[in-house]
Amino acid sequence: MCGIFGCIIREGQAVKLITDGLKRLEYRGYDSVGVAVINNNQMDIRKDKGRIEEVVSELSILEMEGKIGLGHTRWATHGAPAYENAHPHTDEIESIAVIHNGVIENYSELKDELIDKGHIFRSRTDTEVIPHLIEEEMKSDIGLQGAMLRILRRLRGSYALVVLSTHEPDKLYCARNESPLVLGISGNGTYCASDVPALLPYTNQVNYLRNGEMAILDIDGFSIIKISDGSEIVRPNTEITWSPEMAEKQGYIHFMLKEIHEQPTSLRDGLRLQERYLDLLTQFLDRGKEVFLVAAGTSYHSCLAGAYLFSKLARLTTFPVVSSEFMEIYGSTVGIDSIILTVSQSGETYDTLKAIDHARMRAATVLGVTNTVGSTLTRVARAYLIQQSGPEIGVAATKTFTSQVLVLAQMALRLAKNRGKLSQDELDEFEIKLHLVPDWVEETISKSEDTVKKLAKNHLDESLFLFLGRGISSATALEGRLKLLEITYIPSLAYPAGESKHGPISIIEEGVTCIFVCPRGETHNHILGSIMEMKSRGANIVSVCEEGDEEVKRISDEVIEMPRGIPEELTPIVYITPLQLLAYHLAVLKGLDPDKPRNLAKSVTVP
Ligand code: G6P
Repeated sequence: MCGIFGCIIREGQAVKLITDGLKRLEYRGYDSVGVAVINNNQMDIRKDKGRIEEVVSELSILEMEGKIGLGHTRWATHGAPAYENAHPHTDEIESIAVIHNGVIENYSELKDELIDKGHIFRSRTDTEVIPHLIEEEMKSDIGLQGAMLRILRRLRGSYALVVLSTHEPDKLYCARNESPLVLGISGNGTYCASDVPALLPYTNQVNYLRNGEMAILDIDGFSIIKISDGSEIVRPNTEITWSPEMAEKQGYIHFMLKEIHEQPTSLRDGLRLQERYLDLLTQFLDRGKEVFLVAAGTSYHSCLAGAYLFSKLARLTTFPVVSSEFMEIYGSTVGIDSIILTVSQSGETYDTLKAIDHARMRAATVLGVTNTVGSTLTRVARAYLIQQSGPEIGVAATKTFTSQVLVLAQMALRLAKNRGKLSQDELDEFEIKLHLVPDWVEETISKSEDTVKKLAKNHLDESLFLFLGRGISSATALEGRLKLLEITYIPSLAYPAGESKHGPISIIEEGVTCIFVCPRGETHNHILGSIMEMKSRGANIVSVCEEGDEEVKRISDEVIEMPRGIPEELTPIVYITPLQLLAYHLAVLKGLDPDKPRNLAKSVTVP
């Protein structure tokens, strides 16, 4: 997830607006910054890694002159934060500058083709193929608009991109597929940005570019063109009434709520993993004598779900362990044949890094799944995958949990394929279901939010909750409980349901609320038994179950219904969303700030 801003103005210098706009978008990414302007048909590009303030002052960006330009603040997805990977990227003679947010899925095949034609690449990004593709198309005399349409029809994946070129020095070309891009217009000019907050100081008249659309901006306004057939689209502007603070959260009151609602998008991005790294990681997993899944907090719960996925799909035994216990429990046995798959949103959690330092000292192979390119984990791991969730500001992890489980599911599926553990039909079927996950999450969030709000009201004065699930749903139950604990401070327990009779059942008395995670699947019958055990002792039963699951509904007091047909192995990604919402709404009703829970930090970098 990156920040994008572009403008063409009558009065003032474009860089002033660009740098102000980028500062307002810094929450979208902040590892590198770059700006390009055109003045007297000369392109001036300045960029580097670092925060906006530093780069702007070190490169004297505010001295750049021009009435047209673009700027980018980066959240690395391909290639570490570094000068050469910072945007804009250009063709060889710097006549075309491109900034991009998203992931170009087919970049390596496009790059190979361009290298064969003699293009020289300077970065490790997927974005750099775009200016080279445009340069190549411009050779056939079809003009910039024609070249843009041709190349856009070849790009697969997600993008919001802006192109500035000396071929048409008074225009900006923008395009969008799945990554956000908003156009704006005022008396002083025309603008584009990845989010509304960057535009608000200049205009409240905006037009949201839609998937498959390209826009051409000039000083008088913009035209929108459908990429597939080149036809023009006319759509009225929208007037924005948000305050700047609300705009940063896209109209949501809190970052946590915004991030919960962002999950369909972050999951779609999470399905675009880099194939070669997916292969590499699964090859390592296949070779190890023993595989440990090491993580803390929410990431540990992803690992718990991962252990079920690796076992059920790929028949691989793994040992999930919390980072802080790794050395105590496996420190003296881990060795050259061990694989440590580390999951960490930040890639900087102290206990996790300590555990992998130790494992590396003993010659084990360390692999990573993280959200942060350039983090310590990406530097020390033999290979890693980026989960593509984009920056998460709320302290309680939401979208990063669902992306992690999705990444682990894809690894398990790839391993199952390589090991021949599933038939081709089973592989195909699971692959189809994986791609439905973002839609299921979207449907769940939109259908369940009102029910969850009511539930939160009904249970506002509760002093205790018990979360239970079986099989992979015990990971969902643990994560649901963690959300509640983190932001509402209500004491609660979570257990694998089968274990509840070995202790937790003693706290059950009339009216204690038990939240059951009970998808259809292998665990369904057992969970019915667990519900009855609690119900017969007076518990109030809230069940998260499949739509139309009459058996569960009959014995529950309240239910949250989930879409039909989700394979049990994928349910943590979907079933967790109403539990995230429940924690959120309870916190808000209690007057607490869910984004900044007491005593907790987003990244724990101390012992
Ligand atoms: C802190 C955060 C949690 C996070 C955990 C692990 O406790 O508040 O949200 O799950 O650290 O962080 P990591 O960055 O390693 O995933």
